[in-house]
Amino acid sequence: MFNSSKKIAVYPGSFDPLTNGHLDIIHRASKLFDHLIVGVLTNSAKSPIFTKEERVELIRKCTSEYENVEVKMFDGLLVDFVRENKAVAIIKGLRAVSDYEYELQMAALNKHIDHEIETVFLMADIQNSFLSSSIVKELAKNGGNIKGLVPDKIIDDIMKKMY
Ligand code: PNS
Repeated sequence: MFNSSKKIAVYPGSFDPLTNGHLDIIHRASKLFDHLIVGVLTNSAKSPIFTKEERVELIRKCTSEYENVEVKMFDGLLVDFVRENKAVAIIKGLRAVSDYEYELQMAALNKHIDHEIETVFLMADIQNSFLSSSIVKELAKNGGNIKGLVPDKIIDDIMKKMY
């Protein structure tokens, strides 16, 4: 039977900080789903330079024009966050074959935990294929120019954090 309920997706990540690659995925996913929740967490394998609250603020600053995009923070299992928000899909961006192995494992694990939740992979735009939050931090820390790699609105926030 036709189900007219709104389709919600979650785009999870550390976003330390948001890059133009992330923003491109947000833009494209916001067109595919009725509602997109950007889920910000602290990955236990990483030591972020921005607090979770700061990362949420930076993303909100750059996504305010998207009426169907919401930014939230979460802890714990991604699948639990997806369920709590009644989402049907997890969005992941893939930049290169090297991303694929880890993401395939994560998608399979999340599917094992909850069979109803789909992982939807969006291929990164070719011009963002080298881009990551780590690259941005490395460049900024060493006096490189991060213009074009992150939204202009947050360049000052990033540079202030570095010095
Ligand atoms: O931007 P990141 O740090 O690469 O994002 C990784 C993220 C947040 C997608 C991943 O760490 C995650 O899903 N964390 C939540 C905890 C979880 O559900 N882990 C999988 C089962 S152990």
